[in-house]
Amino acid sequence: MKILVLNGPNLNLLGLREPDVYGSESYAKLVAELEAYAAKANLEIKIAQHNGEGQIIDELHAAVGVFDGIVINPGAYTHYSYAILDALKAVKIPAVEVHLSNIHARESFRHTSVTAAACVGQICGLGFFGYFVAINFLRGIIEK
Ligand code: DQA
Repeated sequence: MKILVLNGPNLNLLGLREPDVYGSESYAKLVAELEAYAAKANLEIKIAQHNGEGQIIDELHAAVGVFDGIVINPGAYTHYSYAILDALKAVKIPAVEVHLSNIHARESFRHTSVTAAACVGQICGLGFFGYFVAINFLRGIIEK
C-alpha cells in the first residue's frame, strides 16, 4: 500500500514558525517520525512539501495510478484554493485533510476549508499525531 503525505506552504518552517501554535518540533522531525512509522507498519510512503499551489497540484496529478491514499495538509491554501479542491476531486484517490492546529479555534478565515469537501474527512488540532491517525484510517479503508 502506498500513501502520499503532501504538505503545503510554510510547513517546512515547523519548529521556527509560530511555535506557540505549531509546536517546537521541526519538519525534519515530522518526516523522520512518519518514515519510522511507515517502515514499522510496512507501508510505502512518499512525503512531499511544496510552497507553491501549482507544485501541489502537479504532485496530486502524478499520484494517479501510484498512490492508494493521500494525507494532505494544504496549509493556508486550505482556505481558498479551488484549484487544489479540483485537483483532489480529479484524481479520485481517497484523501484525508490534516491540520496541526485546531483551525476552528483560530481566526475566522481559517474556519473554512474549501479543500476538505474533496476529502473523506478532516483531522485538526492533534499536532503530528493527526498524520498518524489519517494514515491509519486510510489503511483501514484501503485494505477493506
Ligand atoms: C495549518 C493551518 C493553516 O491555517 C495554516 O495556514 C497553515 C498550517 C495547520 O496545519 O494547522 O499553514 O494547515
